[in-house]
Amino acid sequence: MPPLRLGLIGLGNIGRHHANYLLEGRVPQCQLVAVCAPNLSKLEPYAARGLHAFTDAEQLISSGLLDAVLIATPHYQHTSLGIAALEAGLHVMVEKPISAHKADAERLLACAAAHPLLVLAGMFQLRVEPRYAKLRALLAAGELGRLQRITWINTDWFRTEAYYASGGWRATWKGEGGGVLLNQCLHNLDVLSWLFGRPARVRGFCQFGQWHQIEVEDQVTAWFEYPDGATGTFISSTGEAPGTNRFEIAGSRGRVVLENNRLTFTRSEADALEWSRTAQVGFSKPEVWNIDIPFTDATNPHATLMQNFVAAIQEGTPLIAPGADGLLSVELANAIVHSSLTGQTLNLPLDGAAWEAQLQQLIAQSRFTKEVRPTATDDFAASFRR
Ligand SMILES: NC(=O)c1ccc[n+]([C@@H]2O[C@H](COP(=O)([O-])OP(=O)(O)OC[C@H]3O[C@@H](n4cnc5c(N)ncnc54)[C@H](O)[C@@H]3O)[C@@H](O)[C@H]2O)c1
Repeated sequence: MPPLRLGLIGLGNIGRHHANYLLEGRVPQCQLVAVCAPNLSKLEPYAARGLHAFTDAEQLISSGLLDAVLIATPHYQHTSLGIAALEAGLHVMVEKPISAHKADAERLLACAAAHPLLVLAGMFQLRVEPRYAKLRALLAAGELGRLQRITWINTDWFRTEAYYASGGWRATWKGEGGGVLLNQCLHNLDVLSWLFGRPARVRGFCQFGQWHQIEVEDQVTAWFEYPDGATGTFISSTGEAPGTNRFEIAGSRGRVVLENNRLTFTRSEADALEWSRTAQVGFSKPEVWNIDIPFTDATNPHATLMQNFVAAIQEGTPLIAPGADGLLSVELANAIVHSSLTGQTLNLPLDGAAWEAQLQQLIAQSRFTKEVRPTATDDFAASFRR
């Protein structure tokens, strides 16, 4: 079978990362044949290697050179370019979030549904990290019993003012559509959605520009209630260093904790809820076993997801991160901010139109002047979170 001909739209931090592993041949059945960036200097190194170079994404999409595109632009363009690509008959891998807000995500997914022979996938690479795959397997096997509590302190997303100043779109309602929830920890919201599905109710408490000169949220505490009564707490920040990344899941058969590169399962010998019902004394609880669950890190998770995307197109392999799954994480990010701004607990599914209207109001009322300045070259790959 001939390799899939791929076009990459956006050559910023993550776009260049995608280009590097693709050009190294890490996704064997995929050939990067075209790239797109608004400025010529970003295109030159790729044109010099013989790739087709475009300054206009619509021209790349309609070039007839491609089978698929990878969209690595700011958030709002995920929807417009994703729809343009699907309508041109191209398969689409879109960076996270799949759209800047839920109503846009629904537009993109409606377009994908109207083109059922095309594949739409989302770049949610934490799904191929063995630590999360193991957690998912534990939950699916019922090892934790009845789910009771989820707590994720996820504050190791520290970002500097220079980071926010590195792009005019960053940390603005108009350019990005949100802050830490929609950008940095969207991956973690995807993991929550992948493991536990959609909460029934959400309450968010956000602070906007608390630690940075930005207008969107950079500190968040959220509370979730799931349909079966389990509750969740999610705390995030881009202003805290060193920050914490501690993920606890408690069920009636024990508790797992993922922190500091260790996954530990404190397994109860008996179901605690059953114990509570049947014990004859007041203070006893089940004995536990302490288990260390080993895992390795994925070597190149983005390439692994791209490999899966190519296999889905060429062989019908099920997607690890179907585009449709991306609705839940963007909905959760929007719902937390919407709840915070309205001061109300929200029932999910979120009314996407209501949030879109509020977002448009935030954009219209914005008096924020965005500073943009070049940043020194950094180790961008160090920012990936597992
Ligand atoms: N999966 C991951 O690990 C990961 C990591 C970082 C960023 N991201 C996501 O990737 C996207 C880009 O983030 P980034 O950090 O690379 O941003 P960036 O600002 O570094 O790069 C975005 C690039 O897109 C280009 N661009 C904007 N509009 C365009 C258009 N219409 N056509 C072509 N190019 C266009 C800009 O010139 C810029 O170079 C965001 O959605 C972000 O959330 C994902």
